[in-house]
Amino acid sequence: MVSKKDWDVERYEARHGYVWNFGRGVMEWLAPKAGEAILDLGCGAGQLTSEIAEAGAQVVGVDAAPSMIAQARINYPSLTFQLADARTLTFENEFDAVFSNATLHWVRPPEDAVRCIARALKTGGRFICEFGGKGNVQSVVDACGGRTPDWYYPSIAEYSTLLERYGLEVCEAALFDRPTPLEPGPDSMEDWLRMFVKNLTDEQVRAAVEKLRPKLYDGQLWTVDYRRIRLKAVKSDGR
Ligand code: BEZ
Repeated sequence: MVSKKDWDVERYEARHGYVWNFGRGVMEWLAPKAGEAILDLGCGAGQLTSEIAEAGAQVVGVDAAPSMIAQARINYPSLTFQLADARTLTFENEFDAVFSNATLHWVRPPEDAVRCIARALKTGGRFICEFGGKGNVQSVVDACGGRTPDWYYPSIAEYSTLLERYGLEVCEAALFDRPTPLEPGPDSMEDWLRMFVKNLTDEQVRAAVEKLRPKLYDGQLWTVDYRRIRLKAVKSDGR
């Protein structure tokens, strides 16, 4: 996994709500049904996990960050959350669907996660995911001069090939720009960098903000150049 210390959950919930609010589109692809067993991989503080549960599904939320799992348990005490790394999941043929929003760009090597996801699904089960796609936050990557984490932003071709290698047949895929407005205010870009690009000095943060200002700030709102890859794949019976 990309070096990612534990999250500042308080700041994440207060100022980065777009992470799960924008997850609603991929939830429509998931279309959870009552009685289904669903794994929410990278559940964060549990906001989308609870929506899946509201549809009547039996959902398990997993996340690699202890602070997120602790907060998810506080937010939704009746739901099941487990601390787990996407690369070492031990579920086998248990889920009708594996769902993942805004997580898999943090996970390297991606093969390890895909192997675990494929193993966790029942035959015929579906994998629905959305995360950073090719070109995601390119302005930020450029402004930070190679100091951003080694995020994984694949193209549709690259990720589909990987999924197919593990028996997941891709039926739908999209790669699209999703400009993402941060919380209103002049400091939101700095806040974003401190939250997600953890190894910058104060000076490097300031320099990156100034490089980004002409492109991403309109005087009131910072809007980051997110690009999403969204896929639906089904676990084949191996024929
Ligand atoms: C994303 O959701 O695309 C993302 C979030 C934080 C850092 C980098 C990418």
